[in-house]
Amino acid sequence: MLEVKNVVVRYDTATVLDGASLMVEEGELVGLVGPNGAGKTTLLRAIAGLINWDREVLRGTRKSNVTFEGSIEFEGERIDKLAAFEIAKRGLQLCPQMGRPFVEMTVKENLLAGAYLCKDKQEVNEGLAKVYEMFPRLKEREKQLSGTLSGGERQMLAVGRSLMRQPKLMLVDEPSSGLAPKIKDELFKRVEEIYHELGVTILLAEQDISFAFDLSKRNYVMSRGRIIAHGTAQELLGDETIRKTYLGL
Ligand SMILES: Nc1ncnc2c1ncn2[C@@H]1O[C@H](COP(=O)(O)OP(=O)(O)OP(=O)(O)O)[C@@H](O)[C@H]1O
Ligand SMILES: [Mg+2]
Repeated sequence: MLEVKNVVVRYDTATVLDGASLMVEEGELVGLVGPNGAGKTTLLRAIAGLINWDREVLRGTRKSNVTFEGSIEFEGERIDKLAAFEIAKRGLQLCPQMGRPFVEMTVKENLLAGAYLCKDKQEVNEGLAKVYEMFPRLKEREKQLSGTLSGGERQMLAVGRSLMRQPKLMLVDEPSSGLAPKIKDELFKRVEEIYHELGVTILLAEQDISFAFDLSKRNYVMSRGRIIAHGTAQELLGDETIRKTYLGL
Protein backbone atom coordinates (compact mmCIF):
# COMPACT_ATOMS: atom_id res chain seq x y z
CA MET A 1 0.00 0.00 0.00
CA LEU A 2 2.81 2.38 0.92
CA GLU A 3 6.35 2.17 -0.35
CA VAL A 4 8.96 4.70 0.73
CA LYS A 5 12.29 4.43 -1.04
CA ASN A 6 15.54 6.16 -0.13
CA VAL A 7 13.99 9.37 1.08
CA VAL A 8 16.46 12.14 1.81
CA VAL A 9 15.40 15.42 3.41
CA ARG A 10 17.90 18.20 4.03
CA TYR A 11 17.38 21.60 5.58
CA ASP A 12 20.25 23.71 4.20
CA THR A 13 23.13 21.40 5.00
CA ALA A 14 21.49 19.49 7.85
CA THR A 15 20.50 16.02 6.67
CA VAL A 16 17.39 14.96 8.59
CA LEU A 17 16.40 11.92 6.51
CA ASP A 18 19.32 10.06 5.07
CA GLY A 19 17.92 7.46 2.70
CA ALA A 20 14.94 6.16 4.68
CA SER A 21 12.97 3.25 3.18
CA LEU A 22 9.99 1.32 4.48
CA MET A 23 6.82 -0.33 3.31
CA VAL A 24 3.37 -0.94 4.72
CA GLU A 25 0.97 -3.56 3.35
CA GLU A 26 -2.76 -3.02 3.37
CA GLY A 27 -4.27 -4.23 6.66
CA GLU A 28 -1.07 -3.88 8.70
CA LEU A 29 -0.28 -1.84 11.75
CA VAL A 30 3.42 -1.04 11.51
CA GLY A 31 5.46 0.66 14.20
CA LEU A 32 8.12 3.31 13.57
CA VAL A 33 10.23 3.69 16.68
CA GLY A 34 13.42 5.50 17.56
CA PRO A 35 14.83 8.18 19.84
CA ASN A 36 14.10 11.93 19.89
CA GLY A 37 15.24 13.62 16.73
CA ALA A 38 15.62 10.37 14.76
CA GLY A 39 13.45 11.78 11.96
CA LYS A 40 10.11 10.00 12.55
CA THR A 41 7.97 13.13 12.29
CA THR A 42 9.89 14.34 9.26
CA LEU A 43 9.34 11.02 7.52
CA LEU A 44 5.59 11.03 8.24
CA ARG A 45 5.34 14.65 7.10
CA ALA A 46 7.22 13.80 3.91
CA ILE A 47 4.80 10.92 3.19
CA ALA A 48 1.80 13.20 3.82
CA GLY A 49 3.11 15.74 1.33
CA LEU A 50 4.09 18.45 3.78
CA ILE A 51 7.76 18.67 2.78
CA ASN A 52 7.99 18.33 -0.99
CA TRP A 53 4.95 20.20 -2.27
CA ASP A 54 5.77 23.73 -3.38
CA ARG A 55 5.02 23.92 -7.12
CA GLU A 56 7.53 26.71 -7.73
CA VAL A 57 10.26 24.88 -5.90
CA LEU A 58 9.42 21.70 -7.83
CA ARG A 59 9.65 23.69 -11.10
CA GLY A 60 12.91 25.23 -9.98
CA THR A 61 11.60 28.82 -10.17
CA ARG A 62 11.91 29.42 -6.45
CA LYS A 63 14.72 28.45 -4.16
CA SER A 64 14.06 26.57 -0.96
CA ASN A 65 16.30 25.54 1.89
CA VAL A 66 14.70 22.09 1.81
CA THR A 67 15.98 19.32 -0.44
CA PHE A 68 13.89 16.22 -1.06
CA GLU A 69 15.08 13.07 -2.82
CA GLY A 70 13.67 9.59 -3.20
CA SER A 71 10.25 8.21 -4.04
CA ILE A 72 7.00 7.55 -2.20
CA GLU A 73 4.26 5.36 -3.67
CA PHE A 74 0.74 4.95 -2.32
CA GLU A 75 -1.43 2.23 -3.85
CA GLY A 76 1.01 1.83 -6.71
CA GLU A 77 1.25 5.50 -7.67
CA ARG A 78 3.90 8.11 -6.96
CA ILE A 79 2.67 10.72 -4.49
CA ASP A 80 5.91 12.49 -3.64
CA LYS A 81 5.20 15.45 -5.89
CA LEU A 82 1.57 15.90 -4.84
CA ALA A 83 0.28 18.56 -2.46
CA ALA A 84 -0.90 17.43 0.96
CA PHE A 85 -4.58 17.90 0.13
CA GLU A 86 -4.28 15.73 -2.98
CA ILE A 87 -2.69 12.98 -0.92
CA ALA A 88 -5.39 13.32 1.75
CA LYS A 89 -8.05 13.00 -0.95
CA ARG A 90 -6.61 9.61 -1.86
CA GLY A 91 -7.21 8.38 1.68
CA LEU A 92 -3.85 8.95 3.33
CA GLN A 93 -4.18 11.00 6.51
CA LEU A 94 -1.56 12.34 8.88
CA CYS A 95 -2.45 12.59 12.53
CA PRO A 96 0.16 15.09 13.71
CA GLN A 97 2.30 14.98 16.84
CA MET A 98 0.89 17.16 19.66
CA GLY A 99 -2.37 17.41 17.79
CA ARG A 100 -1.60 20.75 16.13
CA PRO A 101 -5.20 21.94 15.95
CA PHE A 102 -6.26 25.28 14.48
CA VAL A 103 -6.22 26.96 17.89
CA GLU A 104 -8.60 29.81 17.02
CA MET A 105 -11.28 27.37 15.91
CA THR A 106 -13.65 25.30 17.99
CA VAL A 107 -13.40 21.54 18.33
CA LYS A 108 -16.29 21.07 15.91
CA GLU A 109 -14.81 23.49 13.36
CA ASN A 110 -11.51 21.61 13.53
CA LEU A 111 -13.29 18.32 12.89
CA LEU A 112 -15.20 19.82 9.97
CA ALA A 113 -11.92 21.15 8.60
CA GLY A 114 -10.80 17.53 8.41
CA ALA A 115 -13.54 16.97 5.86
CA TYR A 116 -13.41 20.29 4.04
CA LEU A 117 -12.93 18.67 0.64
CA CYS A 118 -16.04 16.56 1.06
CA LYS A 119 -19.14 17.95 -0.62
CA ASP A 120 -21.46 15.23 0.68
CA LYS A 121 -23.12 16.67 3.78
CA GLN A 122 -24.44 13.34 4.94
CA GLU A 123 -20.99 11.78 4.79
CA VAL A 124 -19.61 14.69 6.83
CA ASN A 125 -22.35 14.32 9.45
CA GLU A 126 -21.80 10.59 9.68
CA GLY A 127 -18.07 11.18 10.12
CA LEU A 128 -18.75 13.66 12.89
CA ALA A 129 -21.14 11.29 14.65
CA LYS A 130 -18.57 8.49 14.46
CA VAL A 131 -15.83 10.69 15.93
CA TYR A 132 -18.11 11.84 18.76
CA GLU A 133 -19.04 8.26 19.50
CA MET A 134 -15.40 7.32 19.73
CA PHE A 135 -14.43 10.41 21.75
CA PRO A 136 -17.42 11.58 23.83
CA ARG A 137 -15.13 14.13 25.40
CA LEU A 138 -14.87 15.94 22.06
CA LYS A 139 -18.65 16.07 21.82
CA GLU A 140 -18.83 17.60 25.31
CA ARG A 141 -16.34 20.23 24.22
CA GLU A 142 -17.44 20.80 20.65
CA LYS A 143 -17.89 24.55 21.11
CA GLN A 144 -14.63 25.05 23.02
CA LEU A 145 -11.71 26.79 21.29
CA SER A 146 -9.13 24.16 20.44
CA GLY A 147 -6.26 26.25 21.77
CA THR A 148 -7.66 25.75 25.27
CA LEU A 149 -7.78 21.94 25.11
CA SER A 150 -5.54 19.78 27.26
CA GLY A 151 -2.76 17.74 25.65
CA GLY A 152 -4.82 14.56 25.70
CA GLU A 153 -7.84 16.28 24.22
CA ARG A 154 -5.69 17.73 21.45
CA GLN A 155 -4.46 14.26 20.59
CA MET A 156 -8.04 12.99 20.53
CA LEU A 157 -8.96 15.88 18.26
CA ALA A 158 -6.07 15.08 15.92
CA VAL A 159 -7.11 11.44 15.71
CA GLY A 160 -10.75 12.48 15.26
CA ARG A 161 -9.91 15.01 12.56
CA SER A 162 -7.98 12.48 10.52
CA LEU A 163 -10.88 10.04 10.80
CA MET A 164 -13.39 12.44 9.28
CA ARG A 165 -12.82 11.22 5.72
CA GLN A 166 -12.68 7.43 6.15
CA PRO A 167 -8.94 7.14 5.56
CA LYS A 168 -7.37 4.01 4.11
CA LEU A 169 -4.00 4.68 5.71
CA MET A 170 -3.33 6.75 8.81
CA LEU A 171 0.09 8.02 9.81
CA VAL A 172 -0.21 8.46 13.54
CA ASP A 173 2.59 10.52 15.08
CA GLU A 174 3.25 9.82 18.76
CA PRO A 175 -0.30 9.79 20.08
CA SER A 176 1.03 9.08 23.56
CA SER A 177 3.56 11.89 23.76
CA GLY A 178 3.47 13.82 27.00
CA LEU A 179 0.30 12.17 28.27
CA ALA A 180 -0.58 10.74 31.67
CA PRO A 181 -0.94 6.93 31.75
CA LYS A 182 -4.74 6.96 31.91
CA ILE A 183 -5.16 9.12 28.81
CA LYS A 184 -2.42 7.13 27.10
CA ASP A 185 -4.41 3.95 27.68
CA GLU A 186 -7.52 5.53 26.28
CA LEU A 187 -5.72 6.65 23.09
CA PHE A 188 -4.11 3.25 22.84
CA LYS A 189 -7.57 1.64 22.85
CA ARG A 190 -8.89 4.06 20.25
CA VAL A 191 -5.96 3.43 17.90
CA GLU A 192 -6.56 -0.29 18.33
CA GLU A 193 -10.25 0.20 17.56
CA ILE A 194 -9.49 2.24 14.43
CA TYR A 195 -7.24 -0.56 13.27
CA HIS A 196 -9.38 -3.58 14.19
CA GLU A 197 -12.91 -2.28 13.88
CA LEU A 198 -12.66 0.38 11.19
CA GLY A 199 -10.04 -1.58 9.26
CA VAL A 200 -7.69 1.35 8.72
CA THR A 201 -4.07 0.52 7.91
CA ILE A 202 -1.74 2.34 10.29
CA LEU A 203 1.86 3.50 10.41
CA LEU A 204 2.44 4.45 14.04
CA ALA A 205 5.45 6.53 15.10
CA GLU A 206 6.17 6.16 18.81
CA GLN A 207 8.87 6.79 21.31
CA ASP A 208 6.93 4.78 23.85
CA ILE A 209 8.09 1.35 22.79
CA SER A 210 5.44 -0.51 24.75
CA PHE A 211 2.66 1.45 23.05
CA ALA A 212 4.00 0.62 19.59
CA PHE A 213 5.10 -2.95 20.30
CA ASP A 214 1.82 -3.99 21.88
CA LEU A 215 -0.12 -3.02 18.79
CA SER A 216 2.20 -3.65 15.87
CA LYS A 217 3.05 -6.84 14.03
CA ARG A 218 6.36 -5.48 12.86
CA ASN A 219 8.41 -2.36 13.39
CA TYR A 220 11.06 -0.19 11.86
CA VAL A 221 13.73 1.30 14.08
CA MET A 222 14.93 4.72 13.02
CA SER A 223 18.10 6.49 14.01
CA ARG A 224 19.68 9.60 12.52
CA GLY A 225 17.40 9.65 9.52
CA ARG A 226 17.84 6.01 8.57
CA ILE A 227 16.03 2.77 9.19
CA ILE A 228 18.62 0.73 11.03
CA ALA A 229 16.57 -2.34 11.94
CA HIS A 230 13.27 -4.00 11.21
CA GLY A 231 11.36 -6.85 12.83
CA THR A 232 8.76 -8.03 15.28
CA ALA A 233 8.84 -6.66 18.81
CA GLN A 234 10.32 -9.96 19.98
CA GLU A 235 13.09 -9.91 17.40
CA LEU A 236 14.04 -6.32 18.17
CA LEU A 237 13.95 -6.77 21.94
CA GLY A 238 16.01 -9.92 21.57
CA ASP A 239 18.87 -7.98 19.98
CA GLU A 240 20.92 -6.47 22.76
CA THR A 241 22.56 -3.75 20.68
CA ILE A 242 19.24 -2.54 19.32
CA ARG A 243 17.60 -2.73 22.71
CA LYS A 244 20.29 -0.76 24.49
CA THR A 245 21.43 1.65 21.81
CA TYR A 246 18.23 2.51 20.03
CA LEU A 247 15.32 1.58 22.24
CA GLY A 248 16.85 2.84 25.48
CA LEU A 249 15.94 -0.33 27.40
N1 LIG B 1 12.31 22.62 9.51
C1 LIG B 1 13.44 22.13 10.03
N2 LIG B 1 14.62 22.75 9.87
C2 LIG B 1 15.76 22.24 10.37
N3 LIG B 1 15.84 21.08 11.07
C3 LIG B 1 14.70 20.41 11.27
C4 LIG B 1 13.44 20.89 10.76
N4 LIG B 1 12.49 20.00 11.13
C5 LIG B 1 13.12 19.02 11.82
N5 LIG B 1 14.43 19.26 11.92
C6 LIG B 1 15.43 18.44 12.63
O1 LIG B 1 15.33 17.13 12.14
C7 LIG B 1 15.61 16.18 13.16
C8 LIG B 1 14.53 15.14 13.18
O2 LIG B 1 13.34 15.73 13.69
P1 LIG B 1 11.97 14.94 13.81
O3 LIG B 1 10.98 15.86 14.40
O4 LIG B 1 11.64 14.32 12.51
O5 LIG B 1 12.37 13.79 14.85
P2 LIG B 1 11.45 12.75 15.64
O6 LIG B 1 12.05 11.40 15.43
O7 LIG B 1 10.05 12.93 15.25
O8 LIG B 1 11.67 13.18 17.15
P3 LIG B 1 10.63 13.15 18.40
O9 LIG B 1 10.62 11.73 18.89
O10 LIG B 1 11.26 14.08 19.38
O11 LIG B 1 9.31 13.63 17.92
C9 LIG B 1 15.78 16.97 14.43
O12 LIG B 1 17.15 17.10 14.71
C10 LIG B 1 15.14 18.31 14.11
O13 LIG B 1 15.74 19.35 14.82
MG1 LIG C 1 8.35 13.41 16.26
